[in-house]
Amino acid sequence: MAITIHHLKQWKQDGRPIVALTAWDYLLAKTLDQAGVDVILVGDSLAMVALGYETTLPLTLEEMLHHAKAVARGVSKALLVCDLPFLSYQESPQQALSVGGRVLKETGAQAVKLEGGYPAMAETVHFLTQRGIPVMGHVGLTPQSVHQFGGYRKQGKDERDAERILEEAIALEAAGAFAIVLEHIPDALAATITHKLGIPTIGIGAGSDCDGQVLVTADLLGLSDWQPKFARSYANLRQTVTDAVQAFSNEVRTRKY
Ligand code: KIV
Repeated sequence: MAITIHHLKQWKQDGRPIVALTAWDYLLAKTLDQAGVDVILVGDSLAMVALGYETTLPLTLEEMLHHAKAVARGVSKALLVCDLPFLSYQESPQQALSVGGRVLKETGAQAVKLEGGYPAMAETVHFLTQRGIPVMGHVGLTPQSVHQFGGYRKQGKDERDAERILEEAIALEAAGAFAIVLEHIPDALAATITHKLGIPTIGIGAGSDCDGQVLVTADLLGLSDWQPKFARSYANLRQTVTDAVQAFSNEVRTRKY
């Protein structure tokens, strides 16, 4: 049974946590899908983990489409969501519609994710969802605004900022978003948003009271050359790969292989 946006909403009501991970190529996507991940996100973090850019900002729409198509070939069960790259949607709701439309038509993703809240992005989310494009929102630390934040800083730490983020989340739900990523905000704020909204929240660095959790898979696997403190690793693949490469090199150089 393929997972749809309706399962996510139902799971929130049932209290069943949602498992989400990022993917950037076919083999990884297939492995995650077969391991039973609920949501596979072609996150624009692929700019850093797959393409070596310093931030997510340089990622182009064409690069995103290329990776999303590869991911889609590996997914048969998970809900596939694709990030809209920086400046591919912020100009106007019409721009977001034509880019979101391309993503759905060309990649096979079932939904798009975009960053930001009230008022500009809520209007865009409304425009897209009224035209058949499911949207996942993303508030808190939105990495496409890294320069505006002055770094990858925790958001919503003071009362005013917390109130702003809560209002953004409420506005995104009213605009028709089917779920919202809450990134790097205080646990208590994430819990408040989660209880206030009827749609699921998916946290990253936002505590365990969210309706689900997402990680950048390179962080989870211990592959990244840098990762935020809140990202937990469940393996050390960088070391495993290094050991395997060195074992192979050793056998080749001693003519054992
Ligand atoms: O780009 C990404 O990987 C993301 C997740 C961290 C939510 O947006």
